[in-house]
Amino acid sequence: MRVLGIETSCDETAAAVVENGCRLLGNAVTSSIDLHIRYGGVVPEIAARSHIEAIVPVIEQALRDAGTDWNGIDAVAVTRGAGLGGSLLIGVLAARTIAIAKHKPLYGINHVEAHTYANFLTDASPPGYTMRAQQPGFPMLALIVSGGHSQLVLFRDHFDYTLLGRTSDDAVGEAFDKVAKILGLPYPGGPSVGKKALDGDPFKYNLPKAHTSKYDFSFSGLKTAVLRLAQAEIGEDFTFPSKDLPQRLSERQKADIAASFQRVAIETLVDKTVSAYEEFRPKSVIIAGGVAASPELRRQLSERLPHSISYPDLKLCTDNGAMVATLGCFKMLRNQPASDPSTLDINPSLSM
Ligand code: KG4
Ligand code: ZN
Repeated sequence: MRVLGIETSCDETAAAVVENGCRLLGNAVTSSIDLHIRYGGVVPEIAARSHIEAIVPVIEQALRDAGTDWNGIDAVAVTRGAGLGGSLLIGVLAARTIAIAKHKPLYGINHVEAHTYANFLTDASPPGYTMRAQQPGFPMLALIVSGGHSQLVLFRDHFDYTLLGRTSDDAVGEAFDKVAKILGLPYPGGPSVGKKALDGDPFKYNLPKAHTSKYDFSFSGLKTAVLRLAQAEIGEDFTFPSKDLPQRLSERQKADIAASFQRVAIETLVDKTVSAYEEFRPKSVIIAGGVAASPELRRQLSERLPHSISYPDLKLCTDNGAMVATLGCFKMLRNQPASDPSTLDINPSLSM
């Protein structure tokens, strides 16, 4: 059983073919990120236009890489939310058109739920992937951390889960992106702050951890604390414009601020994950979403969880079609209802 997965919720245009929910056959991703860098964040209008240009070549590439034509595809899965409305629309319309023209069942997919499914891939035929040895067992505790989401979810089984906690303001990836802007580091902030932090002292500054209810997160206070710290470091007050900070901060100060911020942001995620682990004693713990690519998150989790943890390939942490196709496979395998290809709609604020 093979599913084509399509993902266009943000700046990546992605398509992939997955077999039986475990084997990646073809994975094509292109990103309009270069067009957004000068704006310091994704510009929805530019992202949507780029998807229009890229969607057909990306789908064709995924099929070619998988060595199949439409006869070898049993269903189409597509991200219908959460994400940018104009971007989601391109993927959903492409998937609906394919489903109707090629007579395939169609599955509308929740992007955040799909991120966790990168962990169910154990085999890849394209070269260059480091895959998990086996699929995670249930109950499964999932830390889902991206540019739009920070949440802890307890899965009892496929399609049977409880949201334990979420962020009440910024997502952790968003905090990385905003701190990168304050320090004059390139977008996306996760990798650039992580790289700068390698040269810094993570204990140089004492940044605050938010007090939230049990498994909830909050990152906007931390981001503001970084801004105030940067202003104080150059001897200015809160009225100093953040856009002028990068040229006044030394490379040493930037590295120490990046390292201290990263330590506290990641510690917050790990504190809550360890507490949830102790309360629910799951069979497996997984991390998912763009921030799951963070080496610091992996290091702290390995150090503090009394449980070994397997990670998805870095290329499967950020947005991709493989996670969408994998969840589509499980929907088909578990007889979940398919979507109507003439009416499937986007939902930019879809939650778990
Ligand atoms: O899952 P994703 O590709 O898109 C969303 O659904 O949001 O996640 C993108 C986010 C960005 O905020 C980016 O800064 C962060 O993931 N990110 C990282 C790393 N790579 C990407 N954060 C920390 N460390 C990384 N290596
Ligand atoms: Zn994502």
